[in-house]
Amino acid sequence: MKCVKVPLKKLNDVRKELMEKELMRMDYRIKAERDYGYIPINEDVEGYEIVDIDLEPLNTRPHNFAELLEGELSNEEIEDLRTSFDTIGDVVILEIPDQLESKKKIIGKATLDFTKRKAIYMKKSAVHGTIRIRDLELIAGEDEPITIHKEHGARLKLNVKEVYFSPRLATERKRVSDSVNDGENILDMFCGIGPFPIVIAKNNDVNITGVDINDNAIKYFTENIRLNKVKNVEAICADAREISKSFKSKFDRIIMNLPGLAYDFLDVAMQLIEDDGIINYYEFSNGYEQGAKRLIDAALKENKNVEIINTRKVKSTSPGEWHVAIDAKIKSND
Ligand SMILES: C[S@@+](CC[C@H](N)C(=O)[O-])C[C@H]1O[C@@H](n2cnc3c(N)ncnc32)[C@H](O)[C@@H]1O
Repeated sequence: MKCVKVPLKKLNDVRKELMEKELMRMDYRIKAERDYGYIPINEDVEGYEIVDIDLEPLNTRPHNFAELLEGELSNEEIEDLRTSFDTIGDVVILEIPDQLESKKKIIGKATLDFTKRKAIYMKKSAVHGTIRIRDLELIAGEDEPITIHKEHGARLKLNVKEVYFSPRLATERKRVSDSVNDGENILDMFCGIGPFPIVIAKNNDVNITGVDINDNAIKYFTENIRLNKVKNVEAICADAREISKSFKSKFDRIIMNLPGLAYDFLDVAMQLIEDDGIINYYEFSNGYEQGAKRLIDAALKENKNVEIINTRKVKSTSPGEWHVAIDAKIKSND
């Protein structure tokens, strides 16, 4: 490597001068040894001693994702890809539109270089079926779908191919956790790998039962209970409707995050909720009216009424449609 050799006491001044004149190489580290410093240069510089020595290359990580795809994709296409990233531990899942599928390997390599994660998968389907998983295709890195995701101090282990998990619900989980009171007895009817129960139990002194029909989800939930050393959290693999018949006590809070179908389980939730208990209800909708009506109708059948205490748009699912949250207090009319 061609370098300018300067006495150490002049190193800083010469470095500045060479940088200003754009003669210094920025991809190698300056070396200081005994009484001299060595500054990497692009071309010969007059007035200095030039030597040839080995220097350590610098880690030249591009400043942004766009730099890596410059010339391949338009700025708009790059921005759309970037906002589709879901980073789950060491895994990145992204959505590649049909017209860019021929460039999936270039996009995968750029994502790998930019994010420094281990596996880059593209979505091959929407989330589907009872257990709400999606098909994935590896486009760069190693095919390693098992990872540990960190969220609000919790460590969540999962296999992205076998279970549902969305990092985009992190704020929602924190919000629900912050609204919980110590001493609550909580049921998460569709708990997946247990992100709601784990985050809540790490921050509150409560009892939580999590139910999921996917045995892989319950396998990871059980592991996550151990990993996070949380107490009074129970994982049950079952259909929420079936298992509800065996519960001996009622719950102060029921979490219902199965947004496509939660309404179908509202009759069960209304029977299991304590008087003045809270249902954290989720659904896909363009607003809150439909959800509120479903809650009210289900409550009426149990001679109960509903006070809507909070509503939120959790995330956008398609233009005009949202994953919405409704927090409802359920009171008995008796
Ligand atoms: C949208 S995911 C939510 C998982 C979790 N609450 C989270 O936030 O990551 C819905 C979960 O409901 C589970 N599920 C679907 N039908 C069920 C049923 N009848 N009883 C229990 N779990 C069910 C699926 O396996 C899936 O893990």
